[in-house]
Amino acid sequence: VSGPSVARRSPKRGGGLLDLEVLRVATGGDCVATGPDGRVVFVRYTLPGERVRAKVTESTSRFLRADAVEILDPSPDRVAPPCWYAKPGRCGGCDLQHVSLPAQRRLKAEATRDQLIRLGGVDAGLLADLVVEELPTVLPGNGEGLHWRTRVQVAVREDGRSGLHRHRSQAIEPVDTCPITVPAIEAAGAFRQHWPGRRRVEFAASATDAAGDVAVDGDRPLLHDAIGRRFRVSEGGFWQVHPAAPDVLAAAVLDGLQPRAGELALDLYAGAGLFSAALAVAGCAVTAVEFAVVSAQDARHNLADLAVEVRAGAVEDLVAETARGRDLVVLDPPRAGAGIAVLQALAAARPRAIAYVSCDPGTLARDLRAALAAGYRLTSLRAFDLFPMTAHVECLALLEPSAAS
Ligand SMILES: C[S@@+](CC[C@H](N)C(=O)[O-])C[C@H]1O[C@@H](n2cnc3c(N)ncnc32)[C@H](O)[C@@H]1O
Repeated sequence: VSGPSVARRSPKRGGGLLDLEVLRVATGGDCVATGPDGRVVFVRYTLPGERVRAKVTESTSRFLRADAVEILDPSPDRVAPPCWYAKPGRCGGCDLQHVSLPAQRRLKAEATRDQLIRLGGVDAGLLADLVVEELPTVLPGNGEGLHWRTRVQVAVREDGRSGLHRHRSQAIEPVDTCPITVPAIEAAGAFRQHWPGRRRVEFAASATDAAGDVAVDGDRPLLHDAIGRRFRVSEGGFWQVHPAAPDVLAAAVLDGLQPRAGELALDLYAGAGLFSAALAVAGCAVTAVEFAVVSAQDARHNLADLAVEVRAGAVEDLVAETARGRDLVVLDPPRAGAGIAVLQALAAARPRAIAYVSCDPGTLARDLRAALAAGYRLTSLRAFDLFPMTAHVECLALLEPSAAS
C-alpha cells in the first residue's frame, strides 16, 4: 500500500489524491479510470462518466485502487446512500449504495455481459438485451433494495462489539444497523448486542417469515417456505439469502428446461433440494447430488414424498455416473463454479437441456466456454438482482446440444 509513492508520481495532486475521469464499470463494484502515469485505476464509490477526486488505497506496478472521496462531476444515476456506513474507509459489505437501483442493475448487466463475452466466448449478439431482473417484494423495503439479507456473519472485536469488515480488510467497522439485513436479525441483537469472547457470530433468519425464527450460530434448523413446500435447512446448510430468490430461480429453471412428465433429471449441488423438488413436482424422476452431509440429510427429509434419490458425495466423483441417460440437468455450484471437467462430463452424457445457475459470472464464463467447445450452445442467459446494493449478480444459463454436433 503506497499512497504517498503514488502522490510523488502524480503531477496532479499530492497526498495520494488523484483527479480522475471515470470510464466504465469493472467487476466487484469498481469502475475503471486511467491514472496520470497511464496505469489503470480501479475506483470505488463512483460511476461511469463521473469526474472524481480519489484517494489511492493500494498501488501495484500494474494498477492502483482508489476510493472516490469527492465527486467533482456527478452522474445522474448517483443517489444518497441509504446506509450511513456505506462510504470510503467504513463498511465494505455494499458496493453500490450510491447508485440508483435501476442503474445498479444496468451496471451489473454490463459487467456480466463483458465477462461472458471476454472470458466465455459467448456471442455478443445473444447478450445484447441482457437485463438484470428485479425480484418481487417479499418483505417491506425489498423494493428499495433493503431488508433482504437473511444471513449475516458479524465480526466481533476484542471488546465484544460487533460489526462488519471493511473493504478488502480484516479490520472491523462497528455498526449499529445494516439496512440490507432483515429486521428479525437486527432484533436478535446482531449489531447492538455485545458478543464477548466470540470472533464472529452467524445469524440466519427464515426467508419467508420476517418476524420469525433466527438461528444464532446454527443453534436450530430453519424452516423456509418456497414453491408451495416447506424446506428444513440445518446448521451449515445452504439456502438462498434473498427471500424471493428460491421461488424466482425455481420458476426460471422450470421455464428454461420445460420438463416433461417421466423425464430423468439430475440436480447437481442440490443443497436442501429446492430444484429437485421443483423438477419432481413437474413429473421428473430426479437424482440429487450434494456433498455436505447435513444438506444431503435435509434434502432426504424435504423430498421424502417425491421421486428423488439423494446421493451424498462430490459432483466431480459422481457426475459421469449420474449424468448417464439424463434428459435434463440443473447445476448450481458455489462461487468457484463447477469446473471444466464437470461440464465436459455433462456434455458427454448429451442431456437435452442443461440449466446452470451461477452466482459468479467469471467462473460461469469459464465453464460456458468448456460447454460450447463440447458441443453445446447457449440458448438463453438470464440475470437476477439477488443481492441489491452489492455488485453480486445471479445468472441462469440454458444450454442445449448444438445442431452441428
Ligand atoms: C449455491 S449452493 C446451491 C444449493 C441449492 N441448489 C439451492 O438452490 O438451494 C451450492 C451447494 O453445493 C454444495 N457443494 C459445493 N461443492 C460441492 C461439490 N464439489 N460436490 C457436491 N456438492 C457441493 C454445497 O454444499 C451447497 O449446498
